[in-house]
Formats: sequence, structure tokens, C-alpha cells
Amino acid sequence: MSVRVQAPQELPEDDGDRSLRPRRLEEFIGQEQVKDQLRVSIAAAAARGEPLDHVLLAGPPGLGKTSLAQIVAAELAVGFVQTAGPALERKGDIASFLTALEPRSVFFVDEIHRLPRALEETFYPAMEDRCLPITVGQGAGARVVTIDLPPFTLIGATTRTGLLSTPLRDRFGIQHRLEHYDKTDLARIVRRSARLLGVRIEDGGAIAVAERSRGTPRVANRLLKRVRDYVEVHADGVVSAELAGAALDLLEVDHLGLDRLDREILRTVCEKFAGGPVGLSTLAASVGEEQDTIEDVYEPYLLQRGLIERTPRGRAATRLAFAHLGLEPPGPLSLL
Ligand SMILES: Nc1ncnc2c1ncn2[C@@H]1O[C@H](COP(=O)(O)OP(=O)(O)OP(=O)(O)O)[C@@H](O)[C@H]1O
Ligand SMILES: [Mg+2]
Repeated sequence: MSVRVQAPQELPEDDGDRSLRPRRLEEFIGQEQVKDQLRVSIAAAAARGEPLDHVLLAGPPGLGKTSLAQIVAAELAVGFVQTAGPALERKGDIASFLTALEPRSVFFVDEIHRLPRALEETFYPAMEDRCLPITVGQGAGARVVTIDLPPFTLIGATTRTGLLSTPLRDRFGIQHRLEHYDKTDLARIVRRSARLLGVRIEDGGAIAVAERSRGTPRVANRLLKRVRDYVEVHADGVVSAELAGAALDLLEVDHLGLDRLDREILRTVCEKFAGGPVGLSTLAASVGEEQDTIEDVYEPYLLQRGLIERTPRGRAATRLAFAHLGLEPPGPLSLL
């Protein structure tokens, strides 16, 4: 599998440890339905000798979209070329990528929702008819030439399907949404990563890390590394539930997996805005964080845990949020 990466600084942060990335479908833990469906699509495309239909992978950060895209290329035994929406600025950028693809390659566009609107249209004929109409010359002498493209599979990854225009979204024949992982799958991921990192961990230790990883493999791997540091310094090197708990307490990750900013968000809604609802931009300004970060990274997990609610007038804290912070809910004003 040949991997070409454009402008790494423009790509979202890696987990800092490529060795932890699952390489094949069988190594990719959880998301069973997605894997089952992908297995069928991949086998069928391979049997026909055709490129796989275009794939859209959606879901919160760190759930395995990039990993899955690479795995699809590996399973198909085809090339893998990667870029990101914001790195594509002109039609020519797309043309130079697409014309250089080896036949049947996977062209991975991360953060495809951040593709400039004007460029989305460039993908329509490329995805549908494998051609790229290009205007040559200017004014009265201008004419359109159509470049034929090699067969390829576009895999788009997005944290926000809502920001994709319908015509673009509709051109992906295969669409999957990755959901947060449950505790059992995360514990399996922790055990796998521990094995790869040479960390000795008890089952209880893996579960303790899993419980506080907010359903996200990337977070699980990050916490595991911090727990490893702690255990190396404070104990004999085997991660037990107790040691994992102590290490995570030190990191201020609580038993729901909330970190300091999660709690800051909840506290702000509960205390400063009396439980809400409060608009996202106001909330972002109050906690001093980017609106996008709150919406992409923090909010999905808080929503999933039932700690906040999205209402037409903004975000509101639930009774659970008040209870989690040890606060009294404001009685009749509360929504739940
Ligand atoms: N199902 C899984 N099994 C094992 N490890 C996983 C799985 N999913 C993700 N990981 C681990 O989590 C890390 C982050 O995954 P990945 O980079 O694929 O997420 P992503 O969805 O592309 O995130 P982003 O939206 O931030 O780009 C990987 O490097 C890998 O180590
Ligand atoms: Mg990614």
C-alpha cells in the first residue's frame, strides 16, 4: 500500500503513535455492523475487479475514521492517497491528485466538510463519470476539455455530516456513521494497545481506563500512556484497576471520563446560566474555547451521557449534570 500524505501540518493531529493504528479489518475492534457491511462491499468490488463505491465515514473525532479508510485500501490491496478538505484550495489541486492516482486507489479526503463550497462541484463528475471538465483559456477563446480519470474510490471523513451539501453527500454510495464505543470494546482496545506498547495490564486496569475514555479509542490510547507513566514511577509496572484509577484521578479525569473542560462547560451552563438554555457561541466565549471544538469534541459526549440537551434556544443542562457536579438543580426552571 503506497501512502502519500500532503502537507502533514494541515492534517488533523495524529495520535502520535502510528504503531497503535489497526491495519486490517480483523484488528479493528468494535463497530461490528460497519465492519460487516464494509466486508461485503469490499469482497463484491474485489470480485468484480471494480473500484469500491465511494464511501463517506462520519462520526466524532478519534473513533477510527482515518484508520478505517486506510484499512479499506489495505483490504482491497490498492494505493492510498490522503489529503484534507482545507488543503484543497483550487480545482487544479484536485485535478493533480486525481489524475496521478493508480487505478482503483483510495483517495482519502479527511474533513471533507471543510472543502471549499466551489470545489465540491468539481467532485460531482469525478465521482459519477470519472471525468474532470477543465476550462482552458480565457474569454471568447475559452473552451472546456474533459480529462478522463483512472477508476478510484473517494473516501470522505467528516465529523459533521450536516455541513456537507446534499448533492455531495448523495454521491457516496456507501455511508457509515461511527458511534462511540462501549466499555467492553474500549477495554479490548486498551488491552490491544497495552500489548503493542509492552505495558502489562490487568483486566480491571483495562476496564478502568476504558470507563474514563469517553467512548473514544484515541482517548483510551492517550490515557493508557499516561497511566503507564504513572505506574512506572509509582509501582512495579503492572496496571491494576486501583493504579489506573489513581493515575486518572491525578489527571483530573473523573469517573464519567469528563476532563476539566467538560466540567467547566457543565458548570458554566449550570451555574452561570442557571441550567440554560444558552447559545453555543455564548457558551464557547464563557469557557474560552473555540465553538468548533466544543461542538465536535466536547458536546457529542456530553449529549450522549445525557448531561446536556440541545434545544432550539441553545444548550441546557440536565438533572444528571447538576447531580454530577453536586449542585442543586434550579427546580421548576430545569427541563428534565
Ligand atoms: N476500532 C479501533 N480499534 C483499535 N484502535 C482504534 C480503533 N479506532 C481507533 N483506534 C485508535 O484510535 C486512534 C484514532 O483513530 P483515527 O485517527 O482513525 O480516528 P479518526 O476518526 O480519524 O479521528 P479524527 O476525526 O480526529 O481524524 C488510532 O490511531 C487507533 O490507534
Ligand atoms: Mg482522522
